Amino acid sequence: VKPLDSFALKHSGGELLVLDQRQLPDLEIWLRCDSPAAMTTMIKDLAIRGAPLIGVGAALALAKFAEAGASPTALQQAAAMLRAARPTAVNLMAAMDRMLAAMDHLVATAEEIFSEDAALCERLGDNGQQLIADGDGVLTHCNAGQLATAGIGTALGVIYKAFSRGRRLHVFADETRPLLQGARLTAYELQKWEIPHTLICDNMAAVLMAAGRIQKVFVGADRIARNGDFANKIGTYGVAVLAKHHGIPFYVVAPHTTIDFACADGAGIPVEQRDAEEVRGAAGAFGKVSWAPPGCDTFNPAFDVTPAALVSGYVLDSGFFPVMPSA
Ligand code: MRU
Repeated sequence: VKPLDSFALKHSGGELLVLDQRQLPDLEIWLRCDSPAAMTTMIKDLAIRGAPLIGVGAALALAKFAEAGASPTALQQAAAMLRAARPTAVNLMAAMDRMLAAMDHLVATAEEIFSEDAALCERLGDNGQQLIADGDGVLTHCNAGQLATAGIGTALGVIYKAFSRGRRLHVFADETRPLLQGARLTAYELQKWEIPHTLICDNMAAVLMAAGRIQKVFVGADRIARNGDFANKIGTYGVAVLAKHHGIPFYVVAPHTTIDFACADGAGIPVEQRDAEEVRGAAGAFGKVSWAPPGCDTFNPAFDVTPAALVSGYVLDSGFFPVMPSA
């Protein structure tokens, strides 16, 4: 595998390196990934996350395994293990399918998946940036930026492109309970980019919308069904309902690797359920805190499904579409 460089995933000095997103923003620690099993654990534990980036990371882990001389059977088993690491983001499955269809050139295919993802982000940014007007307040949920892709991101990539073309804008970042991707990751990225932003708790979006401070919403996706229903980080659906009530355009930004044409509608999207401890408290570089009675019952879906009827448009790498285009 040749040297590769992105914000949260690198191949350098012959090693596959993952920026440990669990420790951000306090610590910037790069983890060495030496096997498909290690990558599977990192994906499950969210050391690496974001729909496009887990696909890219899994592909590179498989390529390294091939380079080390793994047999076709071992490669197939490793691909199956990586594919099952998380169930919702279809980019992971798409990347593994593409790798398995290219068994005799796995290294070149993984390198292609990496560089294509960065190029797709550029196109998304170009296709979406004109939706942001000078002076807009823009809300985003979770993290759909450089920490979620091998490039500038999807929803955040659109914002970045509008900003870098001189549009004055202000980003409101939902903190995104329970794992705080908005606070820990999106605010961290926006600070690095020097884009004006305000971090809010998830329950503060409605009041800002009512006050006329938010003109557009941009979110990423983990899987878009054929009819335009899509899964994204838990809380996205609530934001879409709020936006509809306030007459605020709500846009989904995603590369074609996030579209699942085999899935007719949102009911067919598998939603990952995660550990109760994520809701009972929080953990990070600061340690671990609990604020709920030990063992208390929780509900912790990692994603929700937003119906297409709440979506004002899809920013795809092939263009902007007010309704989801057919294959
Ligand atoms: O659980 P996560 O942090 O992997 O969830 C990520 C999201 O929901 C993102 O919005 C989505 O993957 C799109 S990232 C370009």
